[in-house]
Amino acid sequence: MQHIYQQGRNGYTLLLLHGTGGTEQDLIGLAKEIDAGANILSVRGQVLENGMPRFFRRVAEGVFDMEDLRFRTDELYQFVQEAAWQYDFNPSKVIAIGYSNGANIAGNLLFRHKNALLGAILHHPMVPDRDVTLPSLANVHVWIGAGTNDFMCSPQESEELEKLLQEAGATVETAWFNNGHQLTMSEVQAAKAWYKANIK
Ligand code: MLT
Repeated sequence: MQHIYQQGRNGYTLLLLHGTGGTEQDLIGLAKEIDAGANILSVRGQVLENGMPRFFRRVAEGVFDMEDLRFRTDELYQFVQEAAWQYDFNPSKVIAIGYSNGANIAGNLLFRHKNALLGAILHHPMVPDRDVTLPSLANVHVWIGAGTNDFMCSPQESEELEKLLQEAGATVETAWFNNGHQLTMSEVQAAKAWYKANIK
């Protein structure tokens, strides 16, 4: 998978997953803001929708191709495990940072793979899959940046995601913003404060 790896110094690895139409460059600055000492593994989505990179196919806006989502999620999981071996980072200290489409595949990593992530910062995620039994997510820490007026994801769906993750044992904090589906600097600052308090 096309990606960027940057070696850090504190043993944590930030797995960066961009939104639709983004690239592996997009979230690097944000990651440095969250934890300047962490390794960075930033991946480019392999699916193209009218030339726009994504992490999995969709049938329409907000309607996922579930078979492709599951396949691509497992592929991403494998990729991270192999990258850990190749770059010699600890696969049990990986924290995903995803926005929109990237947050959805990060959420699905949690839904399908026990121990895939130590934590996740999910900016404007949806419920990725309603037909799966989540693994135990004890000791997993999740922060959700949700929108009170996000056209892609209703507040009810954000609350549903929070509940599903909590029921699986994850510690979840949801912060609410009023900027539609956008990722703003105040949201990044809130995620950073949560990261400092919960991850390191
Ligand atoms: C998705 O397909 O993941 C969601 O519709 C969010 C998006 O990428 O716009």
